[in-house]
Amino acid sequence: MPLFVGPYEKMRIFYTRSKLENFCKESQGRLSFVPTMGALHDGHMKLVQAAKKEGSLVLVSIFINPKQFNNLNDLDKYPVNLIGDLSLLKQNEVDAVFIPTANDVYSEDTNSNVELPNVASVWEGAFREGHFQGVVDVLSSFYHLIKPKQVFFGQKDLQQCMVVGEMMNTYFPNIEFNMVPTHREKSGLAYSSRNERLSEEGRNTASQIFKSLNSLKNNFNESCLSEERKKITKAGIEIEYLEKISLPEMQVDRSCSNQGAIIFAGYLEGVRLIDNILF
Ligand code: PAF
Repeated sequence: MPLFVGPYEKMRIFYTRSKLENFCKESQGRLSFVPTMGALHDGHMKLVQAAKKEGSLVLVSIFINPKQFNNLNDLDKYPVNLIGDLSLLKQNEVDAVFIPTANDVYSEDTNSNVELPNVASVWEGAFREGHFQGVVDVLSSFYHLIKPKQVFFGQKDLQQCMVVGEMMNTYFPNIEFNMVPTHREKSGLAYSSRNERLSEEGRNTASQIFKSLNSLKNNFNESCLSEERKKITKAGIEIEYLEKISLPEMQVDRSCSNQGAIIFAGYLEGVRLIDNILF
């Protein structure tokens, strides 16, 4: 009988590395890992559901990684809801949760000097200095500790998927990378922990982002792009970027080809929102 398969009442919670290490050893290479920063929502649960493939044990981490925040204000305001998170994870029959402290994650033996791929230098990399280094550092530490069979990330963070996918090819080729399609509210707004900081009106306004992405996917040319930029700005959203890009390089591609993606980042009510749509 497998040791840890069972009803959700048996969800295990680990606060220290040493306890987690035993669990990982006993899981015999069947671990599906979903890294998160908490404030969980239905979008995260789509990752959990994808991870719950037959025979796999699902481990979710909750760790607000200070290294990936270039803006201390953003870190301070990052939503926290541990009780709600644990209840959602139990409802979704997750096998184990890891809630480490920064000391456990960043110790000398997990410091592995991971180099960033080129795709990390544009867009989010340019607007949020140090962000991706923080992301790959924390993931590298988790992977050394957990040795998962597979990992799951949301398409909403498309550039994170590109950066992490490439870094895993280089440093962790035996771990399988999975990208799960973006889960959206009825209005089209992509689920995000940051949405909690939007007012009701803000959430309605933010639905313009997906409308514009969709419209550009259906019909892309430079004049449509400037039209959609105007619509988003008029709705009260301050655009950082709205662009058509190639994949996986994420270079600007204004051609009318049905390839690559449209990506967006901007601010509404002081909240930074990102989204994308694939061709
Ligand atoms: O996408 C996130 O929530 C974070 O960047 C991750 C992958 C959990 C690393 O801290």
